[in-house]
Amino acid sequence: MPATILIGAQWGDEGKGRAADWLARDSDAMARYAGGDNAGHTVLVGSQKFQLHLVPSGVVHPDMICILGTGMVINPLRLVQELDMLYQQGVDISPDRIRISARAHVITPGHMALDGAEERMRGGESIGTTQRGIGPAYADKSARTGLLVSAMLDPEKFGDSIQQSILTSNTILEQRYHLPPVADIDGKAAEYTEAARRLAPYITYDIPPLVNQILERGQRLLCEGAQGTLLDIDHGHYPYVTSSSATAGGALTGLGFGPRYVDRVVGVAKAYCTRVGNGPFPTELTNEVGDRMRQIGVEFGTTTGRPRRCGWLDAVILRYAAQVNGLTELVLTKLDVLSHFEVLHIAVAYDLARDRITEMPLDTLAMYEAVPVYEALPGWQTDISHVRRLEDLPSNARRYVERIQELAGVPITMISVGPERDQAILC
Ligand code: GDP
Ligand code: IMO
Ligand code: MG
Repeated sequence: MPATILIGAQWGDEGKGRAADWLARDSDAMARYAGGDNAGHTVLVGSQKFQLHLVPSGVVHPDMICILGTGMVINPLRLVQELDMLYQQGVDISPDRIRISARAHVITPGHMALDGAEERMRGGESIGTTQRGIGPAYADKSARTGLLVSAMLDPEKFGDSIQQSILTSNTILEQRYHLPPVADIDGKAAEYTEAARRLAPYITYDIPPLVNQILERGQRLLCEGAQGTLLDIDHGHYPYVTSSSATAGGALTGLGFGPRYVDRVVGVAKAYCTRVGNGPFPTELTNEVGDRMRQIGVEFGTTTGRPRRCGWLDAVILRYAAQVNGLTELVLTKLDVLSHFEVLHIAVAYDLARDRITEMPLDTLAMYEAVPVYEALPGWQTDISHVRRLEDLPSNARRYVERIQELAGVPITMISVGPERDQAILC
């Protein structure tokens, strides 16, 4: 069966871009199904570094069809910028290979301003969003007041809709938040009109037929998740989540095909944990060890440049990710970063009140209170970035990987030991 869904098994930035690039070798088409330019996916190809925010990572493979699905929210200016960047990097960006769903939603300047205003209002309880307008755009979608990508098919009229949308947001900004309105409405409308002219040839209503034709022909579709399981609107710790379905189920609704086509659900997990933004993180290390992880792993956001919070691997979370996504396999990334540590820790359970629990609490407050129960494993303290075969890993590294596999209950099929395309071990 021809569909693979690839998702982040933690809080995002697990290395989905590089894992997708790897799986792209066996794929004919790749689709993003949720989120917007809050995502930042990195792919290294030789000396070239691609930073993808909206376009599926598969675009760096010349013959691949790339789809921006219906479940996405799209900032037209950012998409034009990204296409221009790809073009400058020598990538074919012709509309016959990149298709954008007419039924995805548009992120407007008003959405971005409201994202900032809402975060300010939350004060000490802010979510730490990427301020890309994601929440307000999905709020409009659900309220049925959103602007569809199809509006860009008539660029002039689209400019008028952008003006209207800014005026609506400005009323909220001024009256509810007592903040200055979005300025230069005419200039903004002109910019968006221009972006619509550029993007119109890529836009199609026919995403479900296209996706289903690909699958019926027996070609392989890779659905590239954005964000991570614990940022999912339904399955993460609300409200410290994003506003879309980042889990495997989102691929079906976000693209329009049925579960009978899915035979692989690949979870991508870092060999430790990171999180950007606020919310519970039981294994977080707010000490020198966490700082070293950040430095060695270069843990700074691809989209916002913010330092990522770092901590030990959490097997409780991985088991949860395996459950809600129906994972068939795991890709373990950044194992090389742990080469620098003498002893490694994996959370195998939590202590909560007087109980020891092995299932992740879904109650956000309980998750804040959960104290990780660690299992300590010896480190290997030798460079592994050149290793390409499992048997060539130091025995302590193999033991670490095997233990993760046991605890998560899912086979690990690939381990990455560096950011480069070939720095991978197939298991
Ligand atoms: P994504 O959002 O899940 O696609 O992940 P990001 O691209 O935001 O962050 C992952 C970062 O880790 C990128 O800078 C990658 O180049 C880098 N990376 C991926 N795999 C490895 C690895 O195995 N080792 C190291 N050292 N870096 C990696
Ligand atoms: P990729 O695809 C890491 C986080 C934000 C914030 C929360 C809500 O690169 O893994 P939003 O702007 O979506 O309303 O922010 O979600 N977040 C991410 N963290 N990687 C991402 O994407 C993220 N996308 C959103 O930091 O905590
Ligand atoms: Mg990222």
